[in-house]
Amino acid sequence: MRILGVDIGGSGIKGSPVDTNTGEMLGERFRIDTPRPATKEAVLDTIGQVAGHFDWQGPVGCGFPGVMRKGVAYTAANLDPSLVGVDLAGEIGQKLGQPTVVINDADAAGLAVMRFGVGRGEKGLVMVITIGTGIGTALFYDGMLVPNSELGHTQLKFKKVRKIHDAETMVADSARKRDELSWKQWGARFTEYLKYMERVMNPDLFILGGGAAKKGDKFLEYLKVTTPVKTATLENRAGIIGAAMASREFGAK
Ligand code: BGC
Repeated sequence: MRILGVDIGGSGIKGSPVDTNTGEMLGERFRIDTPRPATKEAVLDTIGQVAGHFDWQGPVGCGFPGVMRKGVAYTAANLDPSLVGVDLAGEIGQKLGQPTVVINDADAAGLAVMRFGVGRGEKGLVMVITIGTGIGTALFYDGMLVPNSELGHTQLKFKKVRKIHDAETMVADSARKRDELSWKQWGARFTEYLKYMERVMNPDLFILGGGAAKKGDKFLEYLKVTTPVKTATLENRAGIIGAAMASREFGAK
């Protein structure tokens, strides 16, 4: 089944048709800078251009960087607050004239990794963590998605830091760059975050995805946790492939 997958991100809106039987992207990924401000109209227009680029006719799946319930955005931490409350699935579906599903972007990336990547066949509780501008989390139990976990926003007091912080603002890739941390320093901070996740979630496996995942050789040695850690291999394709999978698995049958 061919589905257009669209990954709505803080810096770019990317899409490609996906063969959801194999998880292969059909053709070159098409990317447009996320409009600023990312108003509803501007975001819808950009998604329209992505679909237009592929002359797309058929189902559509989108990943959105916020909590998504029944197609409606409830948060948009690193995007525009005006998107909160918007029935994105309804509006995008109407704009494109195609059946459309929208889920959280980390849930989408996690779906791709669980169906076609290193998470394939993994049983028990798997926590996928996407490390990018923000921290996204996706929980799977025996391969089934438990949506909207938002554990990147856990309030934590990190060692050597006075205040309690929203974890994302301390351990995202953007925080590593902002604070000019070495991989060793960032790894120590991320270990604190993972240890807390171990205490409260007790996962069987962590899978690290997002842009930072391909740099695993630089930081994996600094992550001192007992839970096994794998890095996702689909890299920046996971968001698109998983968005298409969301439409396949959660779209109207
Ligand atoms: C958002 C999540 C999203 C993550 C990655 C966080 O700030 O709250 O919904 O999955 O960023 O984009």
